[in-house]
Amino acid sequence: MKGAPRKTALITGGSGGIGLELAKVLARNAFDIVLVARKRDTLEAAAGQLEGKFNITAHVFAADLRRREAPQAIFDFLRNENIPIEILVNNAGFGLGGEFADTDLDRELEMIQVNIAALTQLTKLFLPAMIKRKSGRILNVASTAAFQPGPLMSVYYASKAYVLSFSEALSEELRDTGVTVTALCPGPTKTDFAATAQVGHSRLFTLFGVADAASVAEFGFRAMMQGKRVAIPGIRNKLVAESHRFFPRNLVTRVARMAQEKR
Ligand SMILES: NC(=O)c1ccc[n+]([C@@H]2O[C@H](COP(=O)([O-])OP(=O)(O)OC[C@H]3O[C@@H](n4cnc5c(N)ncnc54)[C@H](OP(=O)(O)O)[C@@H]3O)[C@@H](O)[C@H]2O)c1
Repeated sequence: MKGAPRKTALITGGSGGIGLELAKVLARNAFDIVLVARKRDTLEAAAGQLEGKFNITAHVFAADLRRREAPQAIFDFLRNENIPIEILVNNAGFGLGGEFADTDLDRELEMIQVNIAALTQLTKLFLPAMIKRKSGRILNVASTAAFQPGPLMSVYYASKAYVLSFSEALSEELRDTGVTVTALCPGPTKTDFAATAQVGHSRLFTLFGVADAASVAEFGFRAMMQGKRVAIPGIRNKLVAESHRFFPRNLVTRVARMAQEKR
């Protein structure tokens, strides 16, 4: 293969949903890919699909980001394979619906580990080389849930508020370094997310349209390449994100509760 070596993008949760669509957009734009998720067979099928269609190299690393040692294992694998990461996409994440008094604490602590701790640790591990190279992009998948409290899904909403706040702060710290950080904030999107979180019957997922993962990914990719700090796909989602500016927070929180309730 002639020309400059291709750059590589690492995508957590890259075997399905928004992560796989992000991997497809990146592959279409000539990035080699590293996919991380738990199920090796799904990962390998996704990698095969990408290699067959886009003429790139797709590596897989099976890891469970609920485990504290997983981010370091991913980093060590790539360092041993001598694969520098130009783009880090922290996409893996999940939610859980229900009243906090009733929900499963273990599941919520795992959620905090995946949505917050693993994202933070992966950023910590991959950032120094990006700064040294004066080149790199980080795309953190937050949510419109980041903009207000979310009764009946309280830990998930709070976890995404962390992702948004962390990404914006880091983006400012990295100004003029050649490294950018973008928080992608999708609204309800057609993936396995709602079923996993047991919120498929909520008003949020049934009352209005649900976006398709491919267009969310395309939007996120473009925003990341432009170095945008926050990327909210769709007019309705932008309005949701801005609503706390115009209405009292208590009201916004009650509306969020209504959106999370069953239809
Ligand atoms: N869909 C929505 O409505 C929506 C809206 C806003 C934000 N988001 C955010 O978008 C991101 C992607 O969600 P999605 O909708 O694409 O969900 P999804 O369809 O359920 O996909 C989740 C991906 O993450 C992987 N994953 C799950 N748990 C993991 C773990 N413990 N360790 C490693 N990988 C894991 C899954 O593969 P394995 O099961 O094989 O591990 C899969 O590849 C999440 O951060 C979510 O919070 C989603």
